[in-house]
Amino acid sequence: MWTLLRTSTLRLPISVIIMVSASVNGSSTDKRQRKLELPVEVNTSLSVPVDTKAVFDCPPIPLTSVVVTTWQIILRDKLSCTRAYRRDRNETKEGNCTDKRITWASRPDENLALQIDPVATTHDGFYMCQMVTPDANFHHGYHLQVLVPPEVTLLQSKNGTAVCRAAAGKPAAQISWTPEGDCVTEREHWANGTVTIQSTCRWEDHPLSNVSCSVSHVTGNKSLSLELSLGLIIRGFPASSLLVIFYVKFALFLVIVVIVAFIYFQRINGCRKAL
Ligand SMILES: *[C@@H]1O[C@H](CO)[C@@H](O)[C@H](O)[C@H]1NC(C)=O
Ligand SMILES: *[C@@H]1O[C@H](CO)[C@@H](O)[C@H](O)[C@H]1NC(C)=O
Ligand SMILES: *[C@@H]1O[C@H](CO)[C@@H](O)[C@H](O)[C@H]1NC(C)=O
Ligand SMILES: *[C@@H]1O[C@H](CO)[C@@H](O)[C@H](O)[C@H]1NC(C)=O
Ligand SMILES: *[C@@H]1O[C@H](CO)[C@@H](O)[C@H](O)[C@H]1NC(C)=O
Ligand SMILES: *[C@@H]1O[C@H](CO)[C@@H](O)[C@H](O)[C@H]1NC(C)=O
Ligand SMILES: *[C@@H]1O[C@H](CO)[C@@H](O)[C@H](O)[C@H]1NC(C)=O
Repeated sequence: MWTLLRTSTLRLPISVIIMVSASVNGSSTDKRQRKLELPVEVNTSLSVPVDTKAVFDCPPIPLTSVVVTTWQIILRDKLSCTRAYRRDRNETKEGNCTDKRITWASRPDENLALQIDPVATTHDGFYMCQMVTPDANFHHGYHLQVLVPPEVTLLQSKNGTAVCRAAAGKPAAQISWTPEGDCVTEREHWANGTVTIQSTCRWEDHPLSNVSCSVSHVTGNKSLSLELSLGLIIRGFPASSLLVIFYVKFALFLVIVVIVAFIYFQRINGCRKAL
C-alpha cells in the first residue's frame, strides 16, 4: 500500500541519441531506425518506509542495445557491493553482495531492476545502475532514505505535567501542543538512525481541562488529546487530597460547634437550677 513518498529528479541537459535497429514485420531488409533521447546521468531521491519493498529501475534503454549493466551499492559512504549482468554471455556476477534482501527484481535477461525486500534502516545509501551501450554509458542513481514512523504516546504524570513521546522515528518527528504550555523537549539518537523526541509540559497560569499533542512526521501526522483533571493544576495537589482536607476541616468545625453549644446549654441549665 505504501508508495515511494518523495521523488525529485535531477536531469543533466546533456543527452545522447542512440540509434536502435528494429525489424518490422519480421523482414530483415525493411529496417527502421528509432531515435532515443535520454539524459546520460540522472539522480533521484527516494524516501521509503521501513519494512516495505523498494524497486529501482535502470535507464529506459532497449535491452538489446546494452552490453553490460552494473549496479553499485554504496551504504554509509563506502562501496558495499556490485551486481553485474553481461548480455552477450547471459551471465550475472554478484560482486561481494551478501545482503539477501537486495536482489534482482526479476530475471536480468528480461528486467535489470534491483529490489530491496524488506527495506531496513541499514539500507540508507546510494544505488546506481550503470548501462554500457556501444554509443554511451547511462547512469541512474537513487539516494535512498529509509523512513520509520514514530510510536506516539501521551501520558499524564502525578505532578500535573503531560508527557508526549514520539519514539524511534526516522527522521526525527516534531511535537507541538494546543494550547502551548511551559515545555521541555528532550531528544535521544539511536544507533539505527532513529530519534526519540519527548516533550514534557505544564500549564501553570490557568486551569485547563483538555490539552492535545500533535506529532508531525513524513510518514503521517498524529494528534492525541488528554483531559487533565482540574485539581492537578492547582499547585500540583491532587483534587482528592484537597477535598479530604476540606471535609476533615468541616467535620472538626461541626464537632467544635456541637461542643460549644452543649457547654452553653449546660451552663444555662445550671444557672436556671441555681436560681
Ligand atoms: C549523483 O549522485 C552521485 C553521488 O552522490 C554524485 O557523485 C553525482 O555527481 C550525482 N550526479 C548528478 C547528475 O547529480
Ligand atoms: C567485500 O566487502 C567488504 C566490506 O563490505 C570489503 O571490506 C571487501 O574488500 C570487499 N571485497 C571485495 C572483493 O570487493
Ligand atoms: C539466460 O539464462 C537463464 C538461466 O541462467 C535462462 O533461463 C534464460 O532463458 C537465458 N536468457 C537468454 C536470453 O538466453
Ligand atoms: C513531574 O514528574 C515527572 C515524572 O513523572 C518528572 O520527570 C518531572 O521532572 C516532574 N516535574 C516536576 C516539576 O516535578
Ligand atoms: C531502532 O532502535 C531503537 C532503540 O534501540 C528501537 O527501539 C527501535 O525499534 C529501532 N527501530 C528500527 C526500525 O530498527
Ligand atoms: C479535546 O480537544 C480535542 C482537540 O483539541 C478534541 O478533538 C477533543 O474532542 C477534546 N476533548 C474533550 C473531552 O473536550
Ligand atoms: C503534517 O503537519 C505538517 C505541519 O505540522 C504539515 O505541514 C503537513 O502538511 C502535515 N501532513 C499531512 C499529511 O497532513
